[in-house]
Amino acid sequence: MDAQRTLWTHGHLATLAGDAPWGGIADGALITEGEQILWVGATETAPAELLAGVAQTHDLHGAVVTPGLIDCHTHLVYGGLRSNEFELRLQGASYEEIARAGGGIRSSVTATREASEQALFDSAAARLRQLLSEGVTTVEIKSGYGLNLTAEAASLAVARRLGAELDVAVQTTFLGAHALPAEFAGRQDDYVSAVCDWLPQLQAQGLVDAVDAFCEGIGFSPAQTRRVFEAAQALGLPVKLHAEQLSDQGGTQLACEFGALSCDHLEHLSEAGVQAMAASGTVATLLPGAFYFLRETKLPPIAALRAAGVPMAISTDHNPGTSPTLSLLLMLNMACTLFRLTPEEALRGATQHAARALGLKDRGVLQAGLRADFCVWDIAHPNELAYFFGRNPLALCVRGGQLRGA
Ligand code: NIG
Ligand code: FE
Repeated sequence: MDAQRTLWTHGHLATLAGDAPWGGIADGALITEGEQILWVGATETAPAELLAGVAQTHDLHGAVVTPGLIDCHTHLVYGGLRSNEFELRLQGASYEEIARAGGGIRSSVTATREASEQALFDSAAARLRQLLSEGVTTVEIKSGYGLNLTAEAASLAVARRLGAELDVAVQTTFLGAHALPAEFAGRQDDYVSAVCDWLPQLQAQGLVDAVDAFCEGIGFSPAQTRRVFEAAQALGLPVKLHAEQLSDQGGTQLACEFGALSCDHLEHLSEAGVQAMAASGTVATLLPGAFYFLRETKLPPIAALRAAGVPMAISTDHNPGTSPTLSLLLMLNMACTLFRLTPEEALRGATQHAARALGLKDRGVLQAGLRADFCVWDIAHPNELAYFFGRNPLALCVRGGQLRGA
């Protein structure tokens, strides 16, 4: 670890800290040391006592600097793909019909169980590198395509190994309650019991940072989700939920009872759900990629979320069925075009609020004392991050104080 003090000077900073638009500093500087930001401010006001210890300086020549991007909802580890189902949907089949016919998540489960741990690692590493190339510095990775103890543990272990080998912060989420595996057909409550039984073992192996479930007609009922959350709560693990994606199940209100970090998707969220989120401080994670790819027409209640002060995160939801995107920048654009977020809301959604959706208080804005995770972009204004689509303007990325290039 390079603990040298480094000065990054003459950047156009979008710190996202404080109340000013973008937390903007027109000619700003950062001083970092090791993994930490020591100081952020206007270049000309950098304190002499900190400058004295600077070992190296990078002149950013007016480039835009933002916090590192955080992808707070991904299913990166799985075997196979589902491009065949994409074709079926183009011919008229719905996502739910394919799932009820045994395809969907279950077909990924078969492929995941057949894959070796090394093959799962290799395919997920290629996907993760793609996310990193656009400035992602922290990523959440869910299990949920193993659906037995061995394969769920393997998926989570692969997620941990991805963090270690690609040198990126990974938060793992156990999503055993993602779909009913074929061997439990007709015994959904028994499967939920099994998921609850696995959790202490997975936690004891250090594999679980949070617990998630898919509360949906084709997933698990609110009563079943409650059992999973009770098991998580008993172990002191935070929860989050795939909620109100295809229908309003009231899963959000349930999740908020458990102080959920986030509820995700939310196209069918009710006003009662919005109020529950506001009261519990739960983040609304919006997933425009899944909305787009499933050709949904019902928008999440953005205006109501905004009015209630619910923080909105943006994520790829990368998965083989509903969102095979590997571009968080594209999600910023889609959050604006499809969901009518402002470019600033979209960027805050993939940084500040994404950090909160993961329960991480040490990142997401550029501020002294937080992690030195930031991106330098070859653009003139931060709103261009949401404006372009299909362009990657990343010039430099710093993760944990280390320069990674682009
Ligand atoms: O976030 N909604 C459930 N889970 C995923 C889709 C999983 C799949 O189809 O493989 C999602 O959209
Ligand atoms: Fe998801």
